[in-house]
Amino acid sequence: MAEREVIGVVGGGQMGSGIAQLAAVSGFSVLLYDSNADVLVRANSSISSSICRLVSKGQLSQAASDDAMKNLKFAQSLEDFRDADVIIEAIVESEDVKKMLFLELDKIAKVSAILASNTSSISVTRLASTTSRPSQVIGMHFMNPPPIMKLIEIIRGADTSDEVYTTVKSLAERLGKTVICSQDYPGFIVNRILMPMINEAFYTLYTGVATKEDIDTGMKLGTNHPMGPLELADFIGLDVCLSIMKVLHEGLGDSKYSPCPLLVQYVDAGRLGRKKGIGVYSYQKEPAKLKPSSSL
Ligand SMILES: NC(=O)c1ccc[n+]([C@@H]2O[C@H](COP(=O)([O-])OP(=O)(O)OC[C@H]3O[C@@H](n4cnc5c(N)ncnc54)[C@H](O)[C@@H]3O)[C@@H](O)[C@H]2O)c1
Repeated sequence: MAEREVIGVVGGGQMGSGIAQLAAVSGFSVLLYDSNADVLVRANSSISSSICRLVSKGQLSQAASDDAMKNLKFAQSLEDFRDADVIIEAIVESEDVKKMLFLELDKIAKVSAILASNTSSISVTRLASTTSRPSQVIGMHFMNPPPIMKLIEIIRGADTSDEVYTTVKSLAERLGKTVICSQDYPGFIVNRILMPMINEAFYTLYTGVATKEDIDTGMKLGTNHPMGPLELADFIGLDVCLSIMKVLHEGLGDSKYSPCPLLVQYVDAGRLGRKKGIGVYSYQKEPAKLKPSSSL
């Protein structure tokens, strides 16, 4: 990578905005783009308030915070990514939509640029096959939230070169993360193990074994997980969980990965978790109660 590396991030939702923040705080020049302009407005305010919190907790100096905000720019279109050294895609977990994006990025990005995907489960090899540079395509799976979680799972596609793997591993380490490496099979390491557990928690709820609260408390206090599986599903996004289960089911061909009907129904109903204010749990604030009128 060049002296002053430019990282492009496509997708300004919960993962893309977190990746952009992390890279900007780590001293990279960052360009963030989302096809929905409103998302970028929200990303700007969530990144600046998150950086302010780091300053108020003493985890970042005021000068470093000012630098981080200067490092971050918002792109008007994908054309702005022509000088990026590494482009990290963090858009919706859909193979078709991601393939369209990789096709487009391949035309715009400079010849030396690396195209990375933050996909949770989709084949990096198939995404790479839509480009003219499969040796420069790699999976870079950040955990949620990217500024806090210590891990990055790197996924090597069938044609990812050793040089690109080494560059991306060193980039992840410069972002302060520990790296694990997975072969390119559905769900990789983390979601191959985590998502069936979350799906099983939905089956446990669906079949009436226990309440959502008892399922989550059972896994928190019984197995020392910081969050219960249903609470975690709401945090990840139920749409993301369902997409990953579909990839596992289709890619591994075993009925044990069949998405729980309750998870499917919640997604159909738009109950996508925290980001929508409702998932397994409700996060909507109670409407303010009317004060009883003294005249009644
Ligand atoms: N949510 C998690 O916990 C988590 C963890 C690790 C990885 N991931 C992966 O990260 C990716 C993003 O997940 P998220 O939770 O941030 O989703 P999100 O719904 O919060 O954000 C996705 C964003 O992508 C944008 N987008 C969709 N199509 C686009 C396109 N063609 N061009 C530009 N922008 C586009 C949307 O407007 C949206 O803002 C997915 O691949 C997901 O599997 C998610």
